[in-house]
Amino acid sequence: EVYTQGMLADERPSVPPRFEALEAAAREALDAEAYAYVAGSAGGERTAAENRSAFSQWRLVPRMLRDVADRDLSTTLFGTEYPAPVGLAPIGVQSILHDEGELASARAAADLGLPFVSSSAASEPMEDVADAAGDGPTWFQLYWSSNRELTASFVDRAEAAGYDALVVTVDTPVISWRERDVERGYLPFLDGEGVGNYVSDPVFRDLLGQDPAENEGAAVMQFVDVFGDASLTWTDLEWLRDRTELPIIVKGIVHPEDAELALESGADSIVVSNHGGRQVDTALPAIEALPAVIDHLDEAGYDEPVLFDSGIRRGADAVTALALGAEMVFLGRPYVYGLAIDGEDGVRQVCRNFLADLDLTMGLSGCSRVSDLDRSMLVRAHESP
Ligand code: FNR
Repeated sequence: EVYTQGMLADERPSVPPRFEALEAAAREALDAEAYAYVAGSAGGERTAAENRSAFSQWRLVPRMLRDVADRDLSTTLFGTEYPAPVGLAPIGVQSILHDEGELASARAAADLGLPFVSSSAASEPMEDVADAAGDGPTWFQLYWSSNRELTASFVDRAEAAGYDALVVTVDTPVISWRERDVERGYLPFLDGEGVGNYVSDPVFRDLLGQDPAENEGAAVMQFVDVFGDASLTWTDLEWLRDRTELPIIVKGIVHPEDAELALESGADSIVVSNHGGRQVDTALPAIEALPAVIDHLDEAGYDEPVLFDSGIRRGADAVTALALGAEMVFLGRPYVYGLAIDGEDGVRQVCRNFLADLDLTMGLSGCSRVSDLDRSMLVRAHESP
């Protein structure tokens, strides 16, 4: 369908299907600071590069004549059926990419039935993002504040707004050394971007003691003060477990033992992720971390779903992660590049292209169901026949 529409249309689609061209078009559409913020990563950006190149360690071994006429990408997580094993990763401050920010992304995701993970650092308050998504699935990503009441307030608000799950990001107690941003002296939060959930929060407003609209500088300083809590330990997760019935998904795991600790502390799932290489430079590529995490959990007797992001660009990347044992993958930079180029429609196009590529790659590999994907389809590059 994507092919035929592309061929029959009078105009070329506004969003290039090829990732490299997509990134270049987003660069054109954005000012230099915003582009650098999104494209950039921690330190020398080695992990970010290796998140991509590590995929070529894995090669697919397609199988033929397996009746792939009827393909179904649907998958079930936490008792909910999703049309595909694909979600939109939490990405903050989307207002620097497009006026409608997260609202546009949430609408596009909802349109396709894909879970939209709304960031604590979103430009728009979580209630407005949930409204924009309507009946579409939404998960709330929690940045655990140094102020416990504020953390609790975010959780309560997410429940009240109808979010289906909490994604607790554990790899960002502080923001890392990002050279592109340091070079430009740019951090969107310091310009008052990405604080929508904070300035709309009653606990935050109490702490601030004045109307954030009247003193933006003070609100930003307050945000910086309460944003993260570097003193957290696994025991704190138990506090959250007691507080909410929503599924808890711990995001930012690369060590197998941390995966086990997360589940032991009450999480329902983890996301193997290195934040797109944006936190610890020289950290191992996420796709390298994935099989060891899955094997360790298996051996320890856990069967909770393992989710994945960091470096997913094409259908074949998703097939690799799913075949290694992930149950859902998340798109990060690709969808926000679509947002930068063409708002809601741009996000929709990126996601539709990705789903089409995934569907075709699965079918051509001999798989008609997500459950058909397993490690027997993969060989290591150095072991290729
Ligand atoms: C992120 N990511 C992120 N993660 C999170 O838990 N909360 C957040 O607010 C953000 N914000 C954010 C902003 C930007 C500009 C980027 C690029 C990323 C990380 C995100 O959820 C995901 O882990 C990475 O984007 C995955 O890497 P790739 O595939 O985008 O390279």
